[in-house]
Amino acid sequence: MSARDHIRALPKAELHLHIEGTLEPDLAFRLARRNGVELPWADEAALAKAMDFSDLQSFLDVYYQAMAALRTPADFADLMDAYLTRARADGVRHAEIFFDPQVHIGNGVAFDDVVDGLLEGWRSHTDVSGGLIMCFLRDRGPEAAADLLAAARHRAGDLIGVGLDSAEVGNPPEPFADVFAQARGLGLRAVAHAGEEGGPEYVWGALRALGAERIDHGIRVLEDDALVGELVARQVPLTVCPLSNVRLKAVAGHAAHPFPELLARGLKVTVNSDDPAYFGGYLAANFECLDDAFGLQPQTLATLCRNSIEASFAAPERQAELLAELGAAAQ
Ligand code: ADE
Ligand code: ZN
Repeated sequence: MSARDHIRALPKAELHLHIEGTLEPDLAFRLARRNGVELPWADEAALAKAMDFSDLQSFLDVYYQAMAALRTPADFADLMDAYLTRARADGVRHAEIFFDPQVHIGNGVAFDDVVDGLLEGWRSHTDVSGGLIMCFLRDRGPEAAADLLAAARHRAGDLIGVGLDSAEVGNPPEPFADVFAQARGLGLRAVAHAGEEGGPEYVWGALRALGAERIDHGIRVLEDDALVGELVARQVPLTVCPLSNVRLKAVAGHAAHPFPELLARGLKVTVNSDDPAYFGGYLAANFECLDDAFGLQPQTLATLCRNSIEASFAAPERQAELLAELGAAAQ
């Protein structure tokens, strides 16, 4: 079996994936036509051309505008179905999927339509376990986050957890402490983007103020030895997204990615795809990017897949099932 086939064959979990970041240009234009929505690009090629990003904000500007195509439960179902079909081909057997309801609500879409559609699109994918993580947009502030949680609490049973995303620098985690505490009180798990463009202080804030159980990205943690020590001691997972970091210029290029050092320091690294429609590939492509840059030994590949399963919020029995499958497939 080639290394590429081996990557796809191993069972794994995807823990950092924004469902709106799987909106491929052809689907965006198909849905926009279906809904009579005009997108700010002439056609698919123009949207694809707009995907030359200089940083996180330049990506977010395009990403939020493209979301205008998504209006009905059927749109969200089509989006989820397309993603899970692709993910399954890459060996994804468990997925914890972010969504950004504040944008959809701003577009006039009811929160329940978003959740209903996403869950409907999952229905036929019975061999991929997992669920939804509702993200607060940090650049809209803590009051807007509290409003979202109030609007969502009747669906808490349909969510796994809450996350914090969008423009990081200048929007630290601490003001979101209360809304995260409320969410945790509803039984929701807590994760947060931190250390993507922001420094180690954002990661400390995510841990201390939000009670984040995983750090999304975390590539800048190496700048703070005490932080690395804390993350290693507690084995707090990092959901690393190599293609995203390269395309948003959070790192200087593939070979400059801190992945080898993150692993070498004993951090619990997982590999994820973030916004694959925008960054050049789904989960297997992110593993391939690391393999091209650093050469992934079979044992490292198996460790990364194991980490993803152990870092997930899947029930212990499901984790054990996937770990057993991984053990058999990694022979
Ligand atoms: N929303 C979607 N992708 C994101 C990323 N990489 N960082 C922050 N917010 C996001
Ligand atoms: Zn992300």
